[in-house]
Amino acid sequence: MASPLASALVIAIDGPAASGKGTLARRLADYYHLPHLDTGLTYRAVAHMLLAKGWPLGDAPHAVEAAHLVDLGGLDRTVLSAHAVGEAASKIAVIPEVRRILVDKQRVFAAQPSGAVLDGRDIGTVVCPDATVKLYVTASAEVRARRRLAEIEARDGSGDFATILADIVRRDERDMGRADSPLRPAADAHLLDTSEMDIETAFLAARAIIDDIVATGSGS
Ligand code: C5P
Repeated sequence: MASPLASALVIAIDGPAASGKGTLARRLADYYHLPHLDTGLTYRAVAHMLLAKGWPLGDAPHAVEAAHLVDLGGLDRTVLSAHAVGEAASKIAVIPEVRRILVDKQRVFAAQPSGAVLDGRDIGTVVCPDATVKLYVTASAEVRARRRLAEIEARDGSGDFATILADIVRRDERDMGRADSPLRPAADAHLLDTSEMDIETAFLAARAIIDDIVATGSGS
């Protein structure tokens, strides 16, 4: 691992859908004054373009064309956060050429002199294998489904717990089972199981890990 004293602080955060990694990434970016990229939005942007044009999600040439058009500065979370867009994103995310194009853009973001926080599924394993700190954030599928339902209800929507849970389990299978860059913890990732943690507790636990690595140059 590169010494954090000699290089910018790059924090790689991976984990399954609704694990809390996005909220954690935003809190850490704010605290360490680092730019943040939610890489899921880049896959969502490709899926959204295909859905908007009525193109099938398995249409690799159009997905590749859409991936080239993704502008990291123009990712609109409000539009892209729809549940259906997330489902579609996990389908186009299996296309290797789409991944290659998006990973190139994500690496440019990570290479900023300030350092950066990136969250996704393959940040510690593929996008930033030399990240200063790698966190793998997880929680049980039931806890993640409850959180997702609470999020939907907070936005005045309604949902059915069993359907959301089934979606989460299916998305896990797709993300962990794909041939190219499957979701898995990097060998040197620090595991953070947030099943029994609120966001503040998870934030403090992550900070303790990061501060230890920055202070000692190792995670132990
Ligand atoms: O994190 P989010 O739910 O927004 O991601 C949507 C989908 O995009 C994921 O289910 C996954 O299939 C894909 N993705 C990915 N690699 C990333 C980020 C997201 O394959 N680094």
